[in-house]
Amino acid sequence: MNRIYLDNAATTPLAPEVFDAMLPYLKEHFGNPSAIHAFGRKTRAAVEQARRTVAGLLNCAPGEIIFTSGGTEADNMVLNGAVRDLGVKHLITSPVEHHAVELPAHALAHHGTQVHWLRVEADGRPDLTHLEELLKATNGQGVLVSLMHANNEIGTRTDLHAVGGLCRQYGALFHSDTVQTMGHYRFDLENTPIDFLACAAHKFHGPKGVGFLYMRSGAGLKPMILGGSQERNMRAGTENIAGIVGLAKAMELAYHDLEQHQAHIQGLKDLLKKRLVEEIPGVGFNGDPGPGSLYTVLSVHFPDDGKGEMLLYNLDIEGVAVSGGSACSSGSNTGSHVLGALYPERLGANIRFSFSRYSTAAEVEHAVSVLKRIFQLVPHKA
Ligand SMILES: Cc1ncc(COP(=O)(O)O)c(C=O)c1O
Repeated sequence: MNRIYLDNAATTPLAPEVFDAMLPYLKEHFGNPSAIHAFGRKTRAAVEQARRTVAGLLNCAPGEIIFTSGGTEADNMVLNGAVRDLGVKHLITSPVEHHAVELPAHALAHHGTQVHWLRVEADGRPDLTHLEELLKATNGQGVLVSLMHANNEIGTRTDLHAVGGLCRQYGALFHSDTVQTMGHYRFDLENTPIDFLACAAHKFHGPKGVGFLYMRSGAGLKPMILGGSQERNMRAGTENIAGIVGLAKAMELAYHDLEQHQAHIQGLKDLLKKRLVEEIPGVGFNGDPGPGSLYTVLSVHFPDDGKGEMLLYNLDIEGVAVSGGSACSSGSNTGSHVLGALYPERLGANIRFSFSRYSTAAEVEHAVSVLKRIFQLVPHKA
């Protein structure tokens, strides 16, 4: 069967060029970067070159990039570290964050941090009037605001400059989970009012199990993992050298032809939207499906006609890989806290289609034809 993959917000395939860049660090260059001999110096140079590449692409200082095991670790470092090290007593976040932020927030609340759950608009965007009310009420003192750049389930995007501007005005710290947007939008961190952000390489054709935390110079977090002095004492443990090299290569490739990739993927999202409306009666879109939203994600609501419950499984049987919510709940049509928060009473099935630069219009058309068959809008072939 010809399987098609439209679940790129969960993870993306490794780019062949990334694999090629990583290979020497899996085969020949195995030295421990902390060692002073030539084997170690070779891998140390690779790690530091990767850091410079990432920093150059994001317009920040290399010392502001701390390599981690991915987005989850970076998010956890910020939330827990801000409370532990930076005197944060109030955390302002939203009910539609990824679990990598939401669950540490609940755990912190359990241990005495005052967590303020920001109201969100109908499309999942944070209510900035409410944010300003909360910042005023707390006087911005001892406050961390953590709001994701783009929602992994519904694609709604938040204006980092608007949120960061308010945080600066009231003296609050600002963290954004940029896992879905890193490698997909350009960042100019020197000129963005933000203190922390999180990245996972596998969302833009890099390897899994590697990412980074951006921490603005002087922000003052302390390490979460203690041990050796790796990552300038910010994250102990022998480095994932091949992963770090792969991350930097994936970022280079992503930003080299970014506008071309954006136009291609946006075209596929628009095509799917149009074709679904034409072919499947009663479809709707979750969050903000418009031009300002994350161009890699289209979250679709299907009518409650009895077919919805098995939709994810039926698509898989037909060779179409998509997601019913975030990666954490993939394989299950239940349990999306994001859709639950935005559409608490609504029946029907939700499917997230997500694209990459390798996705094609033919795949979109194939997915639509499979959906038509599932909804029995065309007769089954004998
Ligand atoms: C918005 C967001 N944050 C954090 C993560 C966690 O990233 P990782 O699984 O690489 O740690 C994901 C991955 O699904 C995500 O989409």
